[in-house]
Amino acid sequence: MSKAHFGLVGLGVMGENLVLNAERNGFSSVVYNRTYSKTEEFLKGRGLNKKISGAKDLREFVDKLERPRRILMMVKAGKATDAVINQISPFLEEGDLLIDGGNSLFTDTERRVAELEKQSFGYIGMGVSGGSKGALEGPSMMPGGTKKSYTAIESLLTKMAAQVDDGPCVTYIGPGGSGHFVKTVHNGIEYGIEQILSESYDLMKRVCRLECNQISDVFKFWNTTEELSSYLVEITQACLKVKDPLDGSALVEKIMDKAGQKGTGLWTVISALELGASVPTIYASLNARVMSSLKSQRQVAEQILNSPQIKTFDLGNSSNGMGPIMDSVVLSSIASYAQGIEIMKIASDEYSYDLDMTSIAQIWKGGCIIRSSLLKRIQDAYNNNPDLQNLLLDPWFSNQVSKRIAGLSTTVSCAALAGVPVPCFSSTLDYINSYRTSRLPQNLVQAMRDCFGSHTYERLDKQGSFHTNWID
Ligand code: 6PG
Repeated sequence: MSKAHFGLVGLGVMGENLVLNAERNGFSSVVYNRTYSKTEEFLKGRGLNKKISGAKDLREFVDKLERPRRILMMVKAGKATDAVINQISPFLEEGDLLIDGGNSLFTDTERRVAELEKQSFGYIGMGVSGGSKGALEGPSMMPGGTKKSYTAIESLLTKMAAQVDDGPCVTYIGPGGSGHFVKTVHNGIEYGIEQILSESYDLMKRVCRLECNQISDVFKFWNTTEELSSYLVEITQACLKVKDPLDGSALVEKIMDKAGQKGTGLWTVISALELGASVPTIYASLNARVMSSLKSQRQVAEQILNSPQIKTFDLGNSSNGMGPIMDSVVLSSIASYAQGIEIMKIASDEYSYDLDMTSIAQIWKGGCIIRSSLLKRIQDAYNNNPDLQNLLLDPWFSNQVSKRIAGLSTTVSCAALAGVPVPCFSSTLDYINSYRTSRLPQNLVQAMRDCFGSHTYERLDKQGSFHTNWID
């Protein structure tokens, strides 16, 4: 019997869909799952009449694969991934390649690449985005590791990936854990945009008094615009229309307002803090999830800390796409991308990843959760100027800031007066206002630091380091 081209460990939804994707693209496959009953179920169900076979144990699994073996692990990040690596390594031979397609912490991937490459195996840490549908039809993939290992799986990945006008949504990201690092930042941006869209829904509902159907129509319109056309706007429009079969009212209003998280948004913010990247919009989205989880405290506080009565403000109307709210969504989404890129640029230098922003924007244009038409503009911006310091400084994006900052300011002010929290909108406004101010008040911070701790300060008018006895 001829050997299979490709192996998959872990038959969760993502794993199942990725192996079906590989098989559809001409790669005969073998699958292994910790519980064999799951493998049998898959082979009798979705895997039936396909060039996919199963293995009862890892020895059999490895034996069924052609050499050099290409094995994708789709298991839980952390200990489960280490466990699979330890169990399968004794059966691998020189040149075989393990790919981790989970949402692993990039420092874990750094360690695994170093350990596995020492044993002459290849190891790729690969971010995969697109959810279960993307995995089946074509995800965006962010593989990192050695170039040699990437080359060994390039033909497989380029066929499996989503395709956009200028090619497949996969490229070699860089060495070590860079693939998982870039996927982590992708998720940080994802957190940001999810929160931004939720803030706009809240304002339309509580301040503009629109019904879910009407809000859905606004999202539908936004999805036709160059600035906001995106996967997340598209699914928001759809979610807002779904009715609860029990009483026909909007289902979204029945959902508990507590958002969970699996770690990648937190890792993005931790990395940003460690690297000294300014990411207030992304951080605000993470904190909004934390605050949302304090449901019972918020219920008590609502009775004690009186909020202003919600007032109705003119935040636009459906015929102009809710002007100021749309401005806020556009600028905050741009800020999320700009901040994500900022983290990647600093990490690229700090960890010698040599990341290419143009190709990262290119592979995010299709398949992934944050795909949007803005990514074409981002790709153009870095194509025109690879040394661009901040996305906001590109002419197209700076023009968006000029056109929309008044709308964002209006939205944030009205939300504040109405007592409606808009953490991403207000953080974005402060981000832009800080970034476009050449003289910030940190001169006074420096004076205080020097006053109580002799930390010294620099002057604008002279070179050197200065100390003053501020108080006699
Ligand atoms: C993707 C998603 C995917 C997953 C996130 C969700 O790109 O396909 O990012 O990886 O949905 O992990 O993360 P939270 O559960 O933390 O929101």
